[in-house]
Amino acid sequence: MAHDLSPIETAKFVAARHAAGMVESGMRVGLGTGSTADWMLRCLAERVHTEGLRVIGVPTSRRTADLAADLGIPLATLDEVKWLNLTIDGADEFDADLNLIKGGGAALLREKIVATASDRMIVIADAAKEVAQLGAFPLPVEVIPFGWQTTRYLIEDMLVGMDVLGNRCHLRLADDNPLLTDESNHIIDLYLNRIGNARHLAMLLNQIPGVVENGLFIDICDTVIIGHADGRVIVRDRTGATQAEDRSDLPDLSNIFADTGD
Ligand code: A5P
Repeated sequence: MAHDLSPIETAKFVAARHAAGMVESGMRVGLGTGSTADWMLRCLAERVHTEGLRVIGVPTSRRTADLAADLGIPLATLDEVKWLNLTIDGADEFDADLNLIKGGGAALLREKIVATASDRMIVIADAAKEVAQLGAFPLPVEVIPFGWQTTRYLIEDMLVGMDVLGNRCHLRLADDNPLLTDESNHIIDLYLNRIGNARHLAMLLNQIPGVVENGLFIDICDTVIIGHADGRVIVRDRTGATQAEDRSDLPDLSNIFADTGD
């Protein structure tokens, strides 16, 4: 079966494949959510089936749990394993300090819990996700449904004193209804354009009653693997150290899709 990838999918794929290659037998691995994480699941499953790699995956969403189960990756809950060697996940934005915006796929709460319960978090991303300053991507905030309009008002009020370039806050919808997360909460997206002090904003958001968690991941990510459309992969860690790998070879993807018959 031929699978021609667009430039952006190629970039996601090579980052995901590189990260899946860093998983060692016996590891407990947090499995992220999103289109880049989906590639990682396929690459990891291929290693499970062809190399006999032994892993236990802890999914960060129902979507990921379903795909990982279809692919035959052994799964456990976070309560069963309690702590993880590694989490591999996508991101909506990352900056030079490897701080992130996540939650475009509405899974930020479980993603943050799982990443925080890991010795190491690796983010996989195409190069377009790198920003000089966080905030162009709307910041997702998970709120409980009870009194969500009051919670939104309190968020907007708090933003007045913040170093941001916008303050529109919109309830995220799915099919014209308020979106429900895997934890049955809502998401309010904050259109800030630029976040001057992400650490401060993350702390203030989480002090508002009704806010469960926000999509700013501060000091959580250890390594970002950046994929490029020409197959190059750049690995950057928190010390600023960067490694480039030339890998423009793209394999036959039929193995990657063999498990689900896509
Ligand atoms: C899911 O809630 C998000 O945090 C995703 O990890 C993020 O949106 C990246 O998704 P893509 O890999 O699809 O861009």
